[in-house]
Amino acid sequence: MKIYAHRGSSGTHPENTVAAFKEAASLQIHGVEFDVHMTKDEELVVVHDESINRTSNGQGFVKDMTLKELKEYDFGEWFTADFKGEKIPTLREVLYIFKDTHHHINIELKSDVFPYEGMEQKVIQMLGEYRLEDRVVISSFNHEMVQQVKKLAPHIETAILFMEVMIAPHEYAEIVGADALHAFFPTVLRPMGKEAVASGKQVRVFTVNDEQYADVLKEIGVHAIFTDFPKKMYNYLKK
Ligand code: G3P
Ligand code: CA
Repeated sequence: MKIYAHRGSSGTHPENTVAAFKEAASLQIHGVEFDVHMTKDEELVVVHDESINRTSNGQGFVKDMTLKELKEYDFGEWFTADFKGEKIPTLREVLYIFKDTHHHINIELKSDVFPYEGMEQKVIQMLGEYRLEDRVVISSFNHEMVQQVKKLAPHIETAILFMEVMIAPHEYAEIVGADALHAFFPTVLRPMGKEAVASGKQVRVFTVNDEQYADVLKEIGVHAIFTDFPKKMYNYLKK
């Protein structure tokens, strides 16, 4: 069972920051996951929420601010004082960190609330520039975006994200054009989990910080877990 650092190494560093990604990049884990939003001036930035209220010393929606405005805020100090000075990273800055590492890169397009027109094309174009198309999976809870990515770039791996138990998720994934299933962990503890694994599609499960749950998921045969504590989980699972 593979391990992905969720929002970077977000249990030990402020989520979705360069510090969290450098820590993830230094680990012998399989992959990294992070979230992308679009600014007012159509720059792609890596941050989880629609607003910057929770993870910075600023306030407001990402979509209403330019990149220059966003870069003025601190995205580290809310976690601990040691990380004061962390800025919001652009997608380009994060891809740069992983461009020469072995890690599989999961880019989550965060358009669950606000629509970001043209975001899919921008992400695809950047992946082409970095020649990373073969080393990424693009996922979203917004399945229209997943479908659009697959239409624009059939060679790029895609995944649907989902929170609820679904009937035949692998069949639904085929309709969307998704190659993989990224599931909230309780859903795969139901019969659906075995069915999804048996379908042959990659099944990756979020967010698993508890080692006992990791053991259960390994038993079911899921292919990967996203965790906030990748180093700890790696050391536990390699035992
Ligand atoms: O991509 C897996 C997981 O990150 C989805 O949920 O809210 O942590 O982005 P969330
Ligand atoms: Ca995410």
